[in-house]
Amino acid sequence: MSAPNKSYDPVEVEALKPEEIERMRDEALAAFAAAADLEALREAKAAHMGDRSPLALANREIGALPPQAKADAGKRVGMARGAVNKALGARQAELEAERDARVLVEEAVDVTLPYDRVPAGARHPLTTLSERIEDVFVAMGYEVAEGPEVEAEWFNFDALNIAPDHPARTMQDTFFVRGATKDAESGVVLRTHTSPVQIRSLLDREPPVYVICPGRVYRTDELDATHTPVFHQVELLAIDEGLTMADLKGTLDHMVRVLFGEDMRTRLRPSYFPFTEPSAEMDMVCFACRGESADDPDRPCRTCSSEGWIELGGCGMVNPRVLTAAGIDPEKYSGFAFGFGIERMLMFRHNVEDMRDMVEGDVRFTRPFGMEI
Ligand code: PHE
Repeated sequence: MSAPNKSYDPVEVEALKPEEIERMRDEALAAFAAAADLEALREAKAAHMGDRSPLALANREIGALPPQAKADAGKRVGMARGAVNKALGARQAELEAERDARVLVEEAVDVTLPYDRVPAGARHPLTTLSERIEDVFVAMGYEVAEGPEVEAEWFNFDALNIAPDHPARTMQDTFFVRGATKDAESGVVLRTHTSPVQIRSLLDREPPVYVICPGRVYRTDELDATHTPVFHQVELLAIDEGLTMADLKGTLDHMVRVLFGEDMRTRLRPSYFPFTEPSAEMDMVCFACRGESADDPDRPCRTCSSEGWIELGGCGMVNPRVLTAAGIDPEKYSGFAFGFGIERMLMFRHNVEDMRDMVEGDVRFTRPFGMEI
């Protein structure tokens, strides 16, 4: 075996000179130190420690050196790479810590803040009040009944003992639905009250009948603070054996107590409705002054004009002619009915001064009533 041919072995390679290695190391360290974020550091790592980096290329030159030079160069390059590797690890840890700290601040969530609620709107107080009234009667065993808003004249008037010449039929009160030819009488109206549901309920059921009917009704009134051409009524009908005016009075008293408070009462004043006999207007103790303004001149009440009472609606014992029209034997059965406007009740129950607020659909009106279901 011959000794290595020294004359062919390069003793020194430019890239492996100590100053060169140092320069490569320092450039790598400077690049790592200058990397402002992890992405930049990744690029610096590829440039200074990747396969094509100066140190990697220098490393490849080592193999061709004679043993001593090889050992020296290997040590130099090894130390340089070690230093570069260590600096990379340190910078990496530093940048990761910075990122984590920043993310913690940027993505911090204040769990005490209210979440972004989507406004849910509000139910219309007429709906809510109507349902509360229904609840009072459903609790007593009544059934909720409905009828059409476009109603046959027969149900709206005739069956309720309102003769064709009754003033309630004139064009002043009633919206008539036009017939096929312009002047023809269609016999169809927009119901002017919920009383036709009395007839429909009686035709649909066998007595005893206990129904409550809330619904929309129509009259040819101009919209102003106290009138609206479309409004809501609640109708109550009870037909059974042996019902008397005392049952009506007790039922009304119960209703106002549940809706307005234990100290509430009603009173009946004689009146006239074609479909009840006898008939009465029903008043309740004034919701605002609890009736006290009537006896006390020092405490005037705007709500009831110091009367102490507020008119709620009409009522009476169902006229035997109505029972007959609905096919019920008035000798065997009797009953009572009442009806009142929900808008009016809402006005004095919640101090709403202008009825137009109820029809304009402005959520600023409905929202304070909330989502009571
Ligand atoms: N239907 C009557 C009205 O609209 C109210 C009423 C109902 C009166 C039931 C008596 C009995 O004025």
